[in-house]
Amino acid sequence: MTAVAENATGRGSGVVLEVEGLTVDIRTPEGTVRAVDDVGFTARRGETLALLGESGCGKSMTARAVVGLLDPVAEVTAGAVRVDADAGRVDLVTADERTRRAMAGPEIAIVFQDALTALNPVYPVGTQLAEPFRIHRGMNRKQARSMAVDLMRRVGIPEPQTRVDSYPHQFSGGMRQRLLIAMAVALSPSVLLADEPTTALDVTVQAQIMALLRDLRTEHRMAVVLITHDLALVAEEADRVAIMYAGVVVETGPVQDVFAAPRHPYTKGLLDSVPEHVAPGEELRSIGGAPPELAAVPAGCVYQDRCPLVRDDCRAARPPLVPVGAPTADRAAACFHSSEVENA
Ligand SMILES: Nc1ncnc2c1ncn2[C@@H]1O[C@H](COP(=O)(O)OP(=O)(O)OP(=O)(O)O)[C@@H](O)[C@H]1O
Ligand SMILES: [Mg+2]
Repeated sequence: MTAVAENATGRGSGVVLEVEGLTVDIRTPEGTVRAVDDVGFTARRGETLALLGESGCGKSMTARAVVGLLDPVAEVTAGAVRVDADAGRVDLVTADERTRRAMAGPEIAIVFQDALTALNPVYPVGTQLAEPFRIHRGMNRKQARSMAVDLMRRVGIPEPQTRVDSYPHQFSGGMRQRLLIAMAVALSPSVLLADEPTTALDVTVQAQIMALLRDLRTEHRMAVVLITHDLALVAEEADRVAIMYAGVVVETGPVQDVFAAPRHPYTKGLLDSVPEHVAPGEELRSIGGAPPELAAVPAGCVYQDRCPLVRDDCRAARPPLVPVGAPTADRAAACFHSSEVENA
């Protein structure tokens, strides 16, 4: 394949996950609401992409839609989720159930937000860790158990040979999070989504879990999609960031560039609302006002009601996420007035 052809398919750029136009509708007693609206981002091999935004902006819904594990009330109504597999690029949205199941684990995996309760209390952890090897690799009990022990060692659980027979409640919160990360990376996926992987943990354990994710990312050359509301964590851990507001991605780009010179008023508001030296784990203090209720997201720009730069055009039409800055900047913003943001 020539370099040009590689770029044309996106493969030469190391993109292993490409989300495009992803839209999720939720059925509620009051009617259908749109929780995720035309969301797009890419993740590349070996990098951490942060999905950053306030509570309720649609981060978890996006992550669940990407892996095809939405609640029954929610449905993907548009978009594509392309994942690189040995067989080529597969769109998980249109793939049949068999393909999707075959890819969950070996190609793309998720650590859920409420993960600490995700382990089954009635089985020893070893049985649960062995499952991917039995299902996807066809291993027998003994082989799969030895893989489970290996995996426990790799994620830093002491005495794995004996701990493999322990039950989830016999582990601390931090160790349970390690177990869940172990299950997710068991089959060396090329994409790992980690939804608030450290939120429930104290600061020391949080740092250990982030170090583990970094090590695993390097070891497996994974793309890690780190989902968080924690600005400082993003600054420390991520290479690129996609910032969400009311179900929409409002800005994307390399973290350092975006944080140094935001091109969307929401990003600027977020940065202005935190003290300069904020420690990881500290809550994002939000901007004056609140994000709109899903049922009341305005036509036009989603941020118009809180935006200091709002004009008539912002109310008339939704600004699309378009490239900003130099062609090589790898940045985009969804704002008609993005060139004015820095001085606002
Ligand atoms: N089962 C459901 N029924 C109705 N609305 C839902 C349901 N699940 C989520 N929502 C709504 O969808 C929106 C997006 O929720 P989501 O869980 O993706 O937010 P989030 O960004 O992950 O927030 P957090 O930071 O609190 O985890 C929210 O407004 C939420 O209230
Ligand atoms: Mg969430």
